[in-house]
Amino acid sequence: MERPRILTGDRPTGRLHLGHYVGTLANRVRLQDTYQCFFIIADLHMLTTKYEYLAEVGRDVRELVLDYLAVGIDPNKSTTYLQSQVPEVTELATIFSMLVSVPRLQRVPTLKEVMRDLRIGTASLGLLSYPVLQAADILMVRASLVPVGKDQASHVEVTREIAQRFNALYGDVFPVPEALIGDVPTLPGTNGTAKMSKSLDNAIYLADDPGTVQRRVMGMYTDPTRIHSTDPGHLKGNPVFIYHDVFNPNKAEVAELKARYRAGKVGDVEVKRRLVEALTAFLAPIQERRRQFAEQPSLVEAILRQGSELARQEARRTLVDAKRAMGLDYFSASFARDD
Ligand code: TRP
Repeated sequence: MERPRILTGDRPTGRLHLGHYVGTLANRVRLQDTYQCFFIIADLHMLTTKYEYLAEVGRDVRELVLDYLAVGIDPNKSTTYLQSQVPEVTELATIFSMLVSVPRLQRVPTLKEVMRDLRIGTASLGLLSYPVLQAADILMVRASLVPVGKDQASHVEVTREIAQRFNALYGDVFPVPEALIGDVPTLPGTNGTAKMSKSLDNAIYLADDPGTVQRRVMGMYTDPTRIHSTDPGHLKGNPVFIYHDVFNPNKAEVAELKARYRAGKVGDVEVKRRLVEALTAFLAPIQERRRQFAEQPSLVEAILRQGSELARQEARRTLVDAKRAMGLDYFSASFARDD
């Protein structure tokens, strides 16, 4: 029997960091054994907020694919594709746009957030209909599960409403997908703020070389109340220890460091040096795989091309079914018989 389908992905806006790894990439790598996974690189969605410097996009797409491959997304198991290589998705989005109202889209919380964060005064039609295009991505491959962060849950809700409305009007064509919201805690930034993020300049990237990792870690925020290494330290909200918990497989070492830290018997420098070692060891195999693929640009391109072709076949099939259900297949239906 066919494995249930998953669709998720990213807009191509730069390299991925440890926060992405903890938040979604590790999960995707696990899911590809149980599910048939589609990973979309959503370059059309990217256009909703970025329309300048598009010359960089090709590089960003390539970096994203390299990051995927580096962490273990396996092109033999799952399909990675470029949204703009599957133009059928825009036709499906047009059909879907008749099934959702403007006020409904204006109520989607991510719209207000994006407009506030990026200081966008008036939304373009494309930004407003962002969730409609996303619904087309998801339903086009008939995904039943959509693993995303909490911020994307409202888009999956719009997708469910569109699928239900379509099915009620025209017959059962689409599965009504579920969001799979990971319960992973958000990885804080190196400066101690709640979230690792490119725009906050507090990230460690999967592709960062050991020197950069060392510099980033040695400059990390720790316990601000601790002046001397003999002062008892606090672990709560201390990103150095949060990273140790996530990335240092040597649990005994972490427990011992914590005990000494609380007792004022270890300096920040030693705790950080051990974290540098743990992170470097964690990143080494990822970066080795990245290097191997980076040396074969035509292979990486072929992976994306083949993935996009496969996604496109799915899209064509789904569109034929959708249009048939709607009675939009006039040519075969009304013009076939010559009597
Ligand atoms: N909107 C998603 C994000 O910014 C990217 C995306 C586009 C997506 N299409 C999708 C995610 C379909 C899941 C399913 O993170």
